[in-house]
Amino acid sequence: MTFGFETLAIHAGQEPESRTGAVVPPIYQTSTYAQDAVGAPREGYEYSRTANPTRDALQDCLAALEGGRRGLAFASGMAAEDTLLRTVCRPGDHVVIPDDAYGGTFRLFAKVVQRWGLEWTAARISDVDAVRAAIRPTTKIIWVETPTNPLLGIADLTALASLAHDNNALLAVDNTFASPYLQQPLAHGADVVIHSTTKYVGGHSDVVGGALVTADSDLGEELAFHQNAMGAVAGPFDAWLTLRGVKTLGVRMDRHCDNAERIVAYLQGHQRVAKVLYPGLAEHPGHEVAAKQMRRFGGMISFTTKGGEQAAIEICNRAKLFVLAESLGGIESLIEHPGRMTHASAAGSPLEVPADLVRLSVGIETVEDLLADLDQALG
Ligand SMILES: Cc1ncc(COP(=O)(O)O)c(C=O)c1O
Repeated sequence: MTFGFETLAIHAGQEPESRTGAVVPPIYQTSTYAQDAVGAPREGYEYSRTANPTRDALQDCLAALEGGRRGLAFASGMAAEDTLLRTVCRPGDHVVIPDDAYGGTFRLFAKVVQRWGLEWTAARISDVDAVRAAIRPTTKIIWVETPTNPLLGIADLTALASLAHDNNALLAVDNTFASPYLQQPLAHGADVVIHSTTKYVGGHSDVVGGALVTADSDLGEELAFHQNAMGAVAGPFDAWLTLRGVKTLGVRMDRHCDNAERIVAYLQGHQRVAKVLYPGLAEHPGHEVAAKQMRRFGGMISFTTKGGEQAAIEICNRAKLFVLAESLGGIESLIEHPGRMTHASAAGSPLEVPADLVRLSVGIETVEDLLADLDQALG
């Protein structure tokens, strides 16, 4: 029997606990497990870096939601990214990355793994020819975000999966902005999905976490080996919080999308707004591709302002209900200035973001209240 998304979010990996029937997977806050005899751990549990039942529940649920074979939960999105890179790549290998990516991802490439001999090229991932041109014989991964953070660029997953496979590379997709409810990259040919579960998957801004989900069990096994060997695992309580959040992912995402659509319409008519970036808009260059691979267009909106950087900063500072903060994907609305905040580490690089850009993470509050707040902030 195949279940729908919302059913999987609530039940996958979450059978009532065998001893008591607890409906919610318990928080197994333990580092180790008693063994019945030397070499006979119970149900394979030896040590919680290697495996923990609460983390397993989350991992199985995420694998089901992405339609993958193996899910792995990490201490953060960055830990998941680092584990993926150091599992798949060796010194001298090459990765194509978006020229518009989360600043921390760029920093991982430019300031960390590059020092260990991993080469990278930033390419416009909405342009398949530009990605093709960036590929080298040593390319092991085409790495994309779609939609991208913060410019909401769209990558054609089917086309990039073929391109990657024709060149013996993997397609890795950071699905943080869409969440598995809106987009399932593995169904479009991707090999591995990356999440900052800190965002929509957790959904309540109360836990930092990351995940990888693979289409293939061999890659899943290799990643699991490195997850244990490198050790950046999600703790039991963090896994439990994330699992509690993910149960409502579908209903939250629909409300995020409803509210974002209303706000996009409002911003488009505002005289202080120069350009609204949202893949749901027919004039967005990636709209057709997004419509093909996404269920709806998400809760993230970016816009440029008339009046340059100063105007953008003033709007961020004046917002009240929209909290001025980094991160995204929680139930509460956030506003930020990417150039000075989340993407400051990309300043002076090919990934530098426009100075007049404002990014909104639209929450699930009453939309009229959000519109009123933006109205006073825009002035
Ligand atoms: C698209 C994207 N990927 C990865 C990350 C990194 O995740 P984390 O902050 O959980 O380490 C972020 C964080 O903002 C992000 O926005």
